[in-house]
Amino acid sequence: MTPQSAPAPGKSLPPIVLLGVPGAGKGTQAKRIVTRYGIPHLSTGDLLREIAQSGSEVGSRLAEVMRSGSLVADDLICQVVAERLGKPDCAHGYVLDGFPRTVPQAEWLIQFLAGGCASPSPNPQPPCPLLVIYLAVGYNDLFRRLLGRRSCPTCGRIYNDFTQPPRQAGVCDLDQSPLVQRKDDDPAVIRERLSAYEEQTLPLVEFFRRRGCFYEFRGTEAVDRLSDRIFGVLDSAAEAAEAAAKNGAARGGS
Ligand code: AP5
Repeated sequence: MTPQSAPAPGKSLPPIVLLGVPGAGKGTQAKRIVTRYGIPHLSTGDLLREIAQSGSEVGSRLAEVMRSGSLVADDLICQVVAERLGKPDCAHGYVLDGFPRTVPQAEWLIQFLAGGCASPSPNPQPPCPLLVIYLAVGYNDLFRRLLGRRSCPTCGRIYNDFTQPPRQAGVCDLDQSPLVQRKDDDPAVIRERLSAYEEQTLPLVEFFRRRGCFYEFRGTEAVDRLSDRIFGVLDSAAEAAEAAAKNGAARGGS
């Protein structure tokens, strides 16, 4: 089944986390998931880029951090995410792309979802309320992916000059906008981003694997085939959520 399929109607999903090294295909798959399931896409990279372009003092500091390839501070990003998750469109599920990216961010998110606030919970390891999709890609593929990436500033569609070029070079197939390259898709910054990933984000693979809410996929598969596999897991999760809701309603009504 392709992302053009009709969305699964009326199904609710747990919050979905897309985890993977820069260039693994998180943004590409997130866009397909939101099209199919009709839930919002929360890319922390996009949220931060918006703030960075706002011209505020915080924005200029953020732009500097992102240009260096480092991660922004946990406190700040958790505040940005908490604000976004409070919006009504997040009530029935969402895709988190690029968050959490450190163990403290993951702990914060689990507490936030469990208790609705960021204060420490008395339970040292609450159950994982998330569905984590991990896209595994070897480092050899990443430079080509990131250096070849181009995106449409109007509709957000992602292309790749080597693997997924637009029909006309440099122009979006969907709305004919000129495609742009991200400032941090530069060889020196890519090296920094990969090293930040190794040190701060990679530990999340074991963090989530241990909690049993973790699904690993080969991010090197063709984009459509990978989407189909991810949809298989998400459809099962939606069905399980639906069955649990029906059981709960039946118990409540008896
Ligand atoms: P962010 O914008 O999140 O960037 P990233 O994690 O580095 O990830 P990318 O967007 O580069 O890659 P992707 O996995 O989405 O790949 P894509 O689908 O585009 O973060 C940017 C910065 O913001 C960070 O460096 C940090 O400073 C800050 N930040 C963000 N979140 C933060 C947080 N939580 N905490 C602290 N700081 C934070 O695909 C890449 C290319 O590959 C494309 O050209 C695509 O066409 C191609 N491609 C995709 N899938 C396939 C496939 N299956 N086969 C072949 N090619 C493919």
